[in-house]
Amino acid sequence: MPVPVILDCDPGHDDAMAILLAVAHPAIDLRAVTTVAGNQTVAKTALNARRMLSLAGAHQVPVAAGCDRPLSGALEIGDYVHGESGLDGPAFGEPVVPLDPRHGVDLMHDTLAAAGEPMTIVAIGPLTNVATLLRRHPGDRERIREIVIMGGSVDRGNHTPYAEFNIYADPEAAAEVLDSGVPTTWVGLNVSHQALVTADVLARLSALGTPLAELCVELLTFFGTTYQRTWGFEAPPLHDPITVAYLIDPAVLGHVHVGLRVELDGTHTRGATVADLHGRMDWAPNANVGLTLDRERFWDLMIGAVDALGRSGDERR
Ligand code: BDR
Ligand code: CA
Repeated sequence: MPVPVILDCDPGHDDAMAILLAVAHPAIDLRAVTTVAGNQTVAKTALNARRMLSLAGAHQVPVAAGCDRPLSGALEIGDYVHGESGLDGPAFGEPVVPLDPRHGVDLMHDTLAAAGEPMTIVAIGPLTNVATLLRRHPGDRERIREIVIMGGSVDRGNHTPYAEFNIYADPEAAAEVLDSGVPTTWVGLNVSHQALVTADVLARLSALGTPLAELCVELLTFFGTTYQRTWGFEAPPLHDPITVAYLIDPAVLGHVHVGLRVELDGTHTRGATVADLHGRMDWAPNANVGLTLDRERFWDLMIGAVDALGRSGDERR
């Protein structure tokens, strides 16, 4: 049976690829997409989600804009990575997928209530929407099987030396989700930096020869330029789709069940995730923390998704 999923995102180049994978693969039943302020403002991330769902032909999936700022503190956006639109690079046409008038958190709640079975939330932006859902509707905990999160790192950060962007952008939300009692699986930078969009990957996408594949190449080429400029990476890491790939094929992600905390008070380390990989702290295991990536399986899924959607698509741009 396909996994029923709500995708909470902030597209974002790698979020865009995660949307394509979630739409394309028959193992995922994508019931709703919600967006949050993160890589860009929530209005822009909602527009971008509608663009990608339109390109993917997923006209039936509702998409709604959620929280426009973190639970506390100032809004932090990732425009230095994702550009002015949040999806800089290609030219997009007008999306055919409409904006659902509900607040994203209401769409999440309604979708969970209507499901009649526990659902999985895939959260690949700051965790503001998910934390707000759990604050407003504590009973929804029972309706969520698992939250799979792109965020944090067992090593160093990216937005700051120790903090990964999604967690830094709303550390209180991340801590509340972690402490909610809902099982969580974390794909951090230590995993996503194993998923580099190398020239070889770009060549495989180009060879698909469809307009959708070409758009993906344009997206990932732009993403590559900002990663090169900001962090000196030779190829950009495709963080977010790993969460979806893990749900499709759990063998994609090697993980351990350990104690995990979010740093809220550090002078220079606010937003860092701290994983007790060696049992040095007196912490009960509370989270699945990703460590390894099966690159080959991951890229086969990702490129296969672009291929399948590109071949089934008409003039979507
Ligand atoms: C995360 O932050 C964003 O830039 C990406 O979309 C990803 O979710 C990586 O730190
Ligand atoms: Ca993201």
